[in-house]
Amino acid sequence: MNEVILEMKDIGKEFPGVRALDNVTLTARKGEVLALVGENGAGKSTLMKVLSGVWAYPDYEGEIKVRGEVCRFKGTRDAEKARVAIIYQELNLIQDLSVAENIFLDRQFTNKLGIIDWDRLRAETIKILSELHIKDIDPMQSVKELTVGKQQMVEIAKALTLKAEILILDEPTSALTDRETDELFRVIRRLKNDGVCMIYISHKMEELKQIADRVQVLRDGKTIGSEVPVAEVTIDEIISRMVGRDLKTLYPKHTAQRGKKILEVHGFEVDHPLLPGEKVVRDVSFDVYQGEILGIAGLMGAGRSELVMGLFGAWGKSARGKVVVDGREIVLRSPKDAIDAGIALVTEDRKLLGLLLEQDIVFNTTLASLNRFVKMGMLDQDGERKTAEHYVKELGVKTPTVDARIANLSGGNQQKVVIGKWLNTQPKLLILDEPTRGIDIGAKVEIYKLMNSLMEKGVAIVMISSELPEVMGMSDRVLVMCEGKLSADLICGETSKERVMEYATGSAR
Ligand SMILES: Nc1ncnc2c1ncn2[C@@H]1O[C@H](COP(=O)(O)OP(=O)(O)OP(=O)(O)O)[C@@H](O)[C@H]1O
Ligand SMILES: [Mg+2]
Repeated sequence: MNEVILEMKDIGKEFPGVRALDNVTLTARKGEVLALVGENGAGKSTLMKVLSGVWAYPDYEGEIKVRGEVCRFKGTRDAEKARVAIIYQELNLIQDLSVAENIFLDRQFTNKLGIIDWDRLRAETIKILSELHIKDIDPMQSVKELTVGKQQMVEIAKALTLKAEILILDEPTSALTDRETDELFRVIRRLKNDGVCMIYISHKMEELKQIADRVQVLRDGKTIGSEVPVAEVTIDEIISRMVGRDLKTLYPKHTAQRGKKILEVHGFEVDHPLLPGEKVVRDVSFDVYQGEILGIAGLMGAGRSELVMGLFGAWGKSARGKVVVDGREIVLRSPKDAIDAGIALVTEDRKLLGLLLEQDIVFNTTLASLNRFVKMGMLDQDGERKTAEHYVKELGVKTPTVDARIANLSGGNQQKVVIGKWLNTQPKLLILDEPTRGIDIGAKVEIYKLMNSLMEKGVAIVMISSELPEVMGMSDRVLVMCEGKLSADLICGETSKERVMEYATGSAR
């Protein structure tokens, strides 16, 4: 076995009202991928922030040794000097700067006159990207033009220039396509060969078998046992360590009586945002009924999110078609029109569209339904609070109080707050776009159960998901999209994943 490069011993970390880490122990070796798994709020990101010297975290208990030497980093710079680098759950690049500037952010090459030496900057960037066998990123391109997958690669390139020996990847694949994930895994294997130690956080259990050597489980801020070789445990065993119980079923699907038609869509189309005359959604027609869950499957870029954003009024005049909600034809010019008609949308990107991170849970929960809390011109703050507390309880949001800022919640718990916010608009139609992304297995099952109970209360549900087992496991019917069009409308019980993939890739006959 390779030599130990990292030892974390009896690590403790307290936030007001939360013991995020309690006596955590972790050992990692050169050239290994150590997976760190656990439910939302288990403490994974906090442990890694402690390790990588994030500024607010030097007050932890316990001891960290890197290469046998005791360290207590006071900032990420400090950690980087010791060759420890982190790629955050939420990427951290400066969107308006170029790839090259981001990679060499605090080490700009300047000539004798103190002017940036662009030629050298470009050359060094090309060198580092080619070391990673990345050919399709232009060093001078601004980062905001890159897909999330490519941005991830830029982060890794940056870590490489720091000569990181310990590289922390916090949910790196949560927003990547399958292709991008393969690319990332290729790079991870390369770094492994070079002896880099990687700590890999993920909620995608199937990835562990593919990429990790050993796995450590965190539950409620504590390590459960010690690291075990991935080859020696089953995914089910890992899951039961994570949640502290056996999950009987991953997809607890209920079926209900089909009720009245809630949504009718005819000839819906959405203009391409950049190319005049082109469409990202073309001639889409379908119905959704009370008492059913309708899945939408398709590859990345098939137009699924564009379609539901259009049905939510987000594209204004760039989307058109006949939309009938509960028997009444509606004109969708803004999200307000959609909300008034009883449509709610939980978007895939909670940071951009779902939440105000600096505000607390109460504020965010009632954001989309404020009119309900105004009584005789006064805001019913007590009512707002009670509502927030209700959803925190119902959805199992892990937080000491509803006054907590969203930014302080773990990623998965933020997602639960977004769902609460939309449930509170009491929608007739609830659209969920990748509702379980970044959510742990136990919480996924909770969200599925919630979908069941809403469906039984008469809410029609549309769910987009890139995880086929989830679509097939939870929907009654599945629509498949391919290149902006509907390619199939299938009954889940009568079809297969393979069939859905054929329609998604356009290879079905
Ligand atoms: N800055 C902070 N202030 C207050 N509480 C915090 C802060 N950061 C984290 N916490 C709390 O510490 C606990 C652990 O959070 P952490 O982000 O480490 O979880 P996680 O395992 O990474 O979860 P996820 O899978 O959802 O990303 C949570 O209860 C969270 O609310
Ligand atoms: Mg996290």
